[in-house]
Amino acid sequence: MTRSTAQLTTLLFLAALAVASAKPRSARRSLDEATAACEFVTVPQLCTSLAAKSGATTVPTLTMAAVNEAAVTAQEAKVTVERITAAPITDAKLKANLDVCWKSFSDSVDTLQNAKNDLQTSAPHNQLVTHISAAITYAGHCNDAFSQNPGLASPVADITSILKKLISNSLALAVYPELYGDIFPRFFVYWTNDSYQSTGCYNLYCSGFIQTSNSVAVGAAITTTSTYNDTTLQYVIRIMVWKDRKTGNWWLQQGTTVVGYWPSFLFSNLASSATMVEFGGEIVNTRPSGFHTATQMGSGHLAEEGFGRAAYIRSIRVVDPNDTLIPARNLSYYAEAPNCYDVQGGVDDSGESFFYFGGPGRNARCP
Ligand SMILES: *[C@@H]1O[C@H](CO)[C@@H](O)[C@H](O)[C@H]1NC(C)=O
Ligand SMILES: *[C@@H]1O[C@H](CO)[C@@H](O)[C@H](O)[C@H]1NC(C)=O
Ligand SMILES: *[C@@H]1O[C@H](CO)[C@@H](O)[C@H](O)[C@H]1NC(C)=O
Ligand SMILES: *[C@@H]1O[C@H](CO)[C@@H](O)[C@H](O)[C@H]1NC(C)=O
Repeated sequence: MTRSTAQLTTLLFLAALAVASAKPRSARRSLDEATAACEFVTVPQLCTSLAAKSGATTVPTLTMAAVNEAAVTAQEAKVTVERITAAPITDAKLKANLDVCWKSFSDSVDTLQNAKNDLQTSAPHNQLVTHISAAITYAGHCNDAFSQNPGLASPVADITSILKKLISNSLALAVYPELYGDIFPRFFVYWTNDSYQSTGCYNLYCSGFIQTSNSVAVGAAITTTSTYNDTTLQYVIRIMVWKDRKTGNWWLQQGTTVVGYWPSFLFSNLASSATMVEFGGEIVNTRPSGFHTATQMGSGHLAEEGFGRAAYIRSIRVVDPNDTLIPARNLSYYAEAPNCYDVQGGVDDSGESFFYFGGPGRNARCP
């Protein structure tokens, strides 16, 4: 399944849960968590070697190790500049640039120290992200100064390059969706009103979605998960999204609980209705290390495995202009990379459409 970029007036439902494979033992689970997170960072190799060196096995401890490593490197960069400028420098431009670099690294040290404090004190997540983002900006000032004087090479180019990679990795870890520190799937919401171009975010990380429930939280762990190849241990969650005709707000319900809403002003294209509704799964594939990601969709097993083994979506309804729930029929199915993840539709005894979907990601047929 894929997101539609052409169709702006689209509602997209991602399966929050269907079938989860058998739970790995906790040691292996932790190792996988840090390893999986390293797939998503800017420079995976730096991340995996840091995980090995620090012994960090969870995303929060790995994030702490990454921010710490970045802070130590920023301090080293600052000291390097101090050492160079301790000797007399005749080139005035070089001297001026190195002053910019000293300030750049010094500010990086300070903001990374703030980020460390954020992690230690469990400060609000957006504060952590703001501090690491600021460190990236500061670390860039040194190179900016040199790029304005072509022909003048930065004597700290190497350490600047490493510092930028380390901070960038730290930020990627800090915003990694599974920062929560376990491998449970999450019930999450996301919105964008320009096809992911410049708006959008998860849960309550930026304004947009308004949570009204105090019993169901967006971002909460889903702890009851299905067991692979056991038809007696399969679980579903029920999700409904509908538009309140009076206010224009789009409401979200999980089970029998109304969770919250997306205010009407967020969406001009969905102002009155949607012209298409999509259901399915979605993964991020940045081809870490040149291979397809091993991130699983659904249970990690292909749709052909069917009930008890593959993830599924059923009881699919759309709301018509009279607020009536109409079973969705005549669905069209689409898998972007069927050797990695696929989809298989069917019709049940009562004539209702459903489909299995998912897959393992990287495998012999999906290199
Ligand atoms: C599923 O479980 C059955 C026994 O209940 C077993 O015979 C079969 O090999 C299992 N299949 C897989 C793919 O694990
Ligand atoms: C998108 O959302 C923002 C609020 O973040 C809003 O200001 C803007 O008008 C919206 N754009 C459209 C096209 O609806
Ligand atoms: C909505 O209800 C009205 C009155 O019952 C009916 O005339 C109309 O066809 C309905 N619209 C749809 C889309 O079913
Ligand atoms: C079913 O979908 C196909 C294309 O996806 C379309 O051509 C056809 O008209 C649809 N049939 C009904 C009854 O909606």
